[in-house]
Amino acid sequence: MTTRLRRRRKRTSSGAIRMIENNVYNRKDKSANLWEGISCDDYNRHMKDPAVFQSQTLGEIFKKCAQEIQPKSVLVLGCTDGNGFEHIDENITRTVTGIDINKSFLDKCFDRFGKKKYALKLVCCDFEKDDCKIETVDFVSCALFLEYVDIEKTFDKIKSIMKPTSVLNIVIQRNNDNEFVSETGIKSLESLAAIAAEINQAKLCSYLEKSGITVESSEIYNLPNGKDLISYCCQVSA
Ligand SMILES: C[S@@+](CC[C@H](N)C(=O)[O-])C[C@H]1O[C@@H](n2cnc3c(N)ncnc32)[C@H](O)[C@@H]1O
Repeated sequence: MTTRLRRRRKRTSSGAIRMIENNVYNRKDKSANLWEGISCDDYNRHMKDPAVFQSQTLGEIFKKCAQEIQPKSVLVLGCTDGNGFEHIDENITRTVTGIDINKSFLDKCFDRFGKKKYALKLVCCDFEKDDCKIETVDFVSCALFLEYVDIEKTFDKIKSIMKPTSVLNIVIQRNNDNEFVSETGIKSLESLAAIAAEINQAKLCSYLEKSGITVESSEIYNLPNGKDLISYCCQVSA
């Protein structure tokens, strides 16, 4: 597998350097990940639909974590266009790293948050398969991400990014017998049902335990269409 590394640096009026970093992998099967074919507009129209209400709820969960943890460094897995980043306190947080497989989501994220005081590092890669060299951080957000990756491999990687004091927020979707992808009339999103898997809560907890991660608290958020989001705050086991 060959890797091409491109870097774009921007110096801002405050003198901080922000960087967009794209690891572009020559995957054998370019269509292997359906997320790469989703436009940011379609994604947001679907996720913000009043019946779906997932962007809004995920944004609130992220806000709560950022306010409670007050992290100096943040890593967001599957960051899309930076949903919730508006709640990061620029006077506290120094680095924000966002990872996503869809480069157009990251471009939008950079447009929205590239001028903030913190150093914004956006990495376009397949977190499950690629070797994304990420430094340890205070807060890892993993919201509606596990549904699309191999959980065991992902937890091994997440664990390597955590320090004893780091907080990991995991959010999963509970369908309650509804379709995984709700009907909003946005056709491109429907294809994702083929690669999404509902996470079994008992299995999740057992994977976490095996990885040496303890759930400190959990909360359930009811959504208008009958689904729930379950948010877990976790730390490395003592
Ligand atoms: C449902 S969205 C996440 C929502 C977001 N975390 C929030 O709080 O609003 C899932 C995201 O994960 C990204 N993604 C899916 N599989 C991935 C992978 N293997 N590596 C990196 N990003 C991935 C998708 O492109 C998408 O942006």
